[in-house]
Amino acid sequence: MPRSIPAPFKRKFQQQLLRWYRKNGRELPWRETTDPYSILVSEVMLQQTQVDRVVPKYHEFLSKYPTLQALAKARARDVKKTWYPLGYNIRPVQLHSIARETVAHYGGQLPSSDEALQSFKGIGRYTSGAIRSFAFLQDAPILDTNVRRVLLRVFLGTPRAKPSDKRMWALSEELLPRGRTYDFNQALMDFGACICSAKTPACPRCPMKGFCKAYSKDVKKEDRR
Ligand code: ADE
Repeated sequence: MPRSIPAPFKRKFQQQLLRWYRKNGRELPWRETTDPYSILVSEVMLQQTQVDRVVPKYHEFLSKYPTLQALAKARARDVKKTWYPLGYNIRPVQLHSIARETVAHYGGQLPSSDEALQSFKGIGRYTSGAIRSFAFLQDAPILDTNVRRVLLRVFLGTPRAKPSDKRMWALSEELLPRGRTYDFNQALMDFGACICSAKTPACPRCPMKGFCKAYSKDVKKEDRR
């Protein structure tokens, strides 16, 4: 993979992704709020769980604990019960601790720096990037398995290549359209889920097929059949 993406390739990808998202982006409840706490709750729920299962639990959790202060005051046992049956039950415990630590050390306002966010147990580089871009509108990159797959296919083309995490994070960062990162990152997630899916990507109707490296290498021939 080139160390730096040629500017026209990068621009095309940004434009196509944002255009696709304007028409096809999913309406999800955590996209209708600017409240950092609500966005935190959604991103922790989404770490291991599909969107469809998260939506009802997101509403239930926030109606029970509408603010970070309310969550901080709750009993751990009740928080765990409310989380059921999402699973990976360390998550409600960590979320509860984040709320308590935020009240204790940050005056009840979720911090916005990468360093402070990643100092919480349960927030890694990905979730920090999601919170910074969605709650604080920072130009922060994200990289999870879906985003990695999209970028690998479009910019590298072969699933056999195994670029380092460091390289993939750098690519995700390089691609950000400064000032439009909120939409761009949300779009990457939807695009990975709806078009560039793991098993059956919808290449024939993909807006990237004119320049996608995986499409030109592997799929074009099949499309023609
Ligand atoms: N997965 C993780 N974060 C997400 C988001 N904000 N929207 C959709 N899927 C996601």
